[in-house]
Amino acid sequence: MKAIVAVDKNWGIGKNNDLLFSIPEDMKFFRQTTLGKVVVMGSNTLKSFPNGNPLKNRTNVVLSKRVKRDDCIVATSLEELFIKIKEFDDSEVFVIGGAMLYKTLLPYCEEVLVTKVNADGDADVFFENLDKLPNWSLFSESDSLISNGKTIKFTVYKNHSVQTF
Ligand SMILES: NC(=O)c1ccc[n+]([C@@H]2O[C@H](COP(=O)([O-])OP(=O)(O)OC[C@H]3O[C@@H](n4cnc5c(N)ncnc54)[C@H](OP(=O)(O)O)[C@@H]3O)[C@@H](O)[C@H]2O)c1
Repeated sequence: MKAIVAVDKNWGIGKNNDLLFSIPEDMKFFRQTTLGKVVVMGSNTLKSFPNGNPLKNRTNVVLSKRVKRDDCIVATSLEELFIKIKEFDDSEVFVIGGAMLYKTLLPYCEEVLVTKVNADGDADVFFENLDKLPNWSLFSESDSLISNGKTIKFTVYKNHSVQTF
């Protein structure tokens, strides 16, 4: 299982249940990476999508005790989530947020694709600072590029001690 996230210079990821920035090159990367795959999210992240609808052309899995809908796979606990995603190839599963889901599922992720945005988005929710976690290290980093006026970099972090479920 992997996670994919866009962070600001403080590892901030969102504010007022929305993203911090709109960055076309990152949206493109997110779409290309997750199309046809399984995306796992919390109910706040689902709610933050246009009209609260799941992402097209992907298998959407939502962790929630309250959401009831049949256009997504809904898991009401972590245990149920793990049973449901075991049906899929591990390499096809992407945790796509938000803060609560990233924090809970990070130990089970072998890799995180982190888009770093060199700006301060004044976030109210954060990703863990992977540079400070002993199990994690930076594996690769792209050159910087500019999209919608923001300097961004695509990086990959690897977990050296993946927890199994
Ligand atoms: N920058 C990025 O790449 C990125 C990506 C995604 C999201 N975000 C941002 O992240 C923010 C949302 O994050 P968030 O932490 O507020 O919400 P979240 O992680 O999307 O959803 C949290 C909700 O998921 C459910 N949940 C979590 N753990 C559970 C468990 N063990 N069992 C059952 N249900 C569980 C609960 O919903 P119920 O109350 O329904 O049970 C909980 O309230 C937004 O600002 C969003 O824009 C940023």
